[in-house]
Amino acid sequence: MYDTLNTQHSTLISEYFSDKECSIKTKSFTSKKEAYNRNSDVPFVLLDWDVPVNDLLDDIKLIKQYYPQRAGYKHHKWSAVTLYGYGEDKTKSHWEYLGLKSKKGKTKTAQAMKKMFEWVETLPFDRIDDIRILKLSAGGYVYPHIDVKEQSWLEPVSIALNWPSGCFFKFKNFGYVPFTPGQAVVLNVYYEHAVVNFSNECRYQLVIHGKKGSNFWGSVL
Ligand SMILES: [Fe+2]
Repeated sequence: MYDTLNTQHSTLISEYFSDKECSIKTKSFTSKKEAYNRNSDVPFVLLDWDVPVNDLLDDIKLIKQYYPQRAGYKHHKWSAVTLYGYGEDKTKSHWEYLGLKSKKGKTKTAQAMKKMFEWVETLPFDRIDDIRILKLSAGGYVYPHIDVKEQSWLEPVSIALNWPSGCFFKFKNFGYVPFTPGQAVVLNVYYEHAVVNFSNECRYQLVIHGKKGSNFWGSVL
């Protein structure tokens, strides 16, 4: 199984995921207060959203090009495209482009994605900051990393559009996020995490940053 990785970091990645049958050691989300905690010990929460994965997967077939995600880091076969933001190739989180003069909006790639945006408009956000598709090709991985060192809080929303058998998302010291196709999760990317795709298919993830509405946290499972 590990043969598929076949890169200089494959040993580390194999070891990182060697406990992939382990149970999840995470505190549960007990109150809405947690939603506003900037020193949270909760690595993720699951949402009860009804995600129309077939419609969304149809829409992402319109994507003609993905761009290397965080090229220059140790990630492998990881790419992305922005659907709402500063441009389809501006695939980092929206706050990383604050110096740009251009305005955010629906990107060229996203113009024809009617089902995607009809559904996004139904979500409990007061404001959308960015929407991206993250693609992890067969044999790829997202190297262990921390995205936000400054504060520990539940952000962003990450939705599995598919989740081929052989994909794993792990928070170090906590365990595995139980992604399945259509499962929406709020991640706390203050905690170290990594992803691997041991399958023979691409994995597609929809990631949304936004200002959560007052009814957002009622969706937590
Ligand atoms: Fe991350």
